[in-house]
Amino acid sequence: MTQVSMTVNGKSVSGDVEGRTLLSSFLRDHLSLTGTHVGCDTAQCGACVVHVNGEAVKSCNMLALEADGADVGTIEGQANQDGSLNVIQQAFQDHHGLQCGFCTPGMVMSAAALLKENPRPTESEIRKYLEGNLCRCTGYHNIVKAIMAASGQDVGHIAAE
Ligand code: FES
Ligand code: FES
Repeated sequence: MTQVSMTVNGKSVSGDVEGRTLLSSFLRDHLSLTGTHVGCDTAQCGACVVHVNGEAVKSCNMLALEADGADVGTIEGQANQDGSLNVIQQAFQDHHGLQCGFCTPGMVMSAAALLKENPRPTESEIRKYLEGNLCRCTGYHNIVKAIMAASGQDVGHIAAE
């Protein structure tokens, strides 16, 4: 066992992990931050996306020890200070960008990273950016719409599907 320390959602945390412990397991099993999901074992689905030092990262594809000293953000840290949904979370709710909700934490974290890089992405830029996030329920359309709305773009012309 080795001690790992990092900042998660602005709070200093530490724990004893094995060398093989994945960051996704550290977040879920050690810190009980179970919003970060695990939907595959081949680094394809993106349900585990978190931010590590401001970058969107698949936490199933990184060892907890590799995040030692890092600044990590998860879905649990995304709401506004007063507990209300942030603009992306609210847009997913308003535009029905989720059904079962399993992909949603990863989608929201990827969307946040996208909007930081590209504050007004086009529909095709959003679709391309989300290539690493799979959803079994929505068919993606309303996720794209939600992200466009979160970026302040008019989505009135995009029909619901
Ligand atoms: S659980 Fe990480 S990509 Fe699927
Ligand atoms: S909402 Fe069910 S997997 Fe995306």
